[in-house]
Amino acid sequence: MISKKNHDLSVSLGKIKLKNPVIAASGTFGFAEEYEDFFDLNELGAIIPKGISLKPMIGNVPPRIFETEGGMINSIGLQNPGLDKFIIDKFPYLRKIKTHLFINFFGYTEQEYVELAQRLNDLPGISGLEMNISCPNVKKGGIVFGTNPKMTFRLVQKVRKVTKLHLMVKLSPNVTDISTIARSAAEGGADSISLINTFKALAINIHTLKPEIGNIIGGLSGPAIKPVALRMVWEVCQTVKIPVIGMGGIRKAEDAMEFILAGASAIQIGTANLINPHTAIEVIEGIKRYLIQHQIPSIQKCIGLFRI
Ligand code: SIN
Repeated sequence: MISKKNHDLSVSLGKIKLKNPVIAASGTFGFAEEYEDFFDLNELGAIIPKGISLKPMIGNVPPRIFETEGGMINSIGLQNPGLDKFIIDKFPYLRKIKTHLFINFFGYTEQEYVELAQRLNDLPGISGLEMNISCPNVKKGGIVFGTNPKMTFRLVQKVRKVTKLHLMVKLSPNVTDISTIARSAAEGGADSISLINTFKALAINIHTLKPEIGNIIGGLSGPAIKPVALRMVWEVCQTVKIPVIGMGGIRKAEDAMEFILAGASAIQIGTANLINPHTAIEVIEGIKRYLIQHQIPSIQKCIGLFRI
């Protein structure tokens, strides 16, 4: 149990106040119940379950995961039960957790994004949406929107019109200049930006001469990408005025603090959940220790303290 005495861990994402800056990242935390035996889920700043599409998706051919040095390549292919089944089977559990719930969603077309955002807007118990325009593992939709500034702007603007929920847009690092895409998302009406999703990556089995991933190319995540993620988060924080949520290889409080000092208002724990399911709670405790050690009363005061 984390004591809240003296040190304020709360952060704001626009009008939303998180009890702490630690968010479980989509795709690495299932639908949350998979983690209930490890720690009290109510302690998290927010939860973002696996991304949802209008229709169920079976995902990509196996193997879908391959461990690399300091990281992992995945090509899940956005497998999910689809919105209707999600609402019946997963949502009742999720909405009982006493923390903020952001629903990660994606479509193949603009119309699908809009329809999903509209339907999710009408679902009580959701704090916000995380719009995925960054998955490298599907041929249509997703990353196609997130690698073109004009398409990003247009899509965000369309989705913005149909939802009053907090709209977080999740960006891909597979671009030349992530700040340009972030600016487009902000101009389109995003309330916050989350970054980064995974890097397109390849691993070859030198004995079978085949790719280690069934879909050939997957997305690299984990500690190996942290310095690049941090650089991108820092750049985006200097570009947009809306809150930025940093992620990419965070596995301990010191990593989280780097992102917060770079300007992130909150952080997401992704791949580390799969290695140590207690990571999120350990990061919350570690951030509190950092505040005590440096005699800082509130984590909010640390955001963007990094100086060059
Ligand atoms: C996947 O399901 O393939 C990963 C999700 C993502 O990269 O957005």
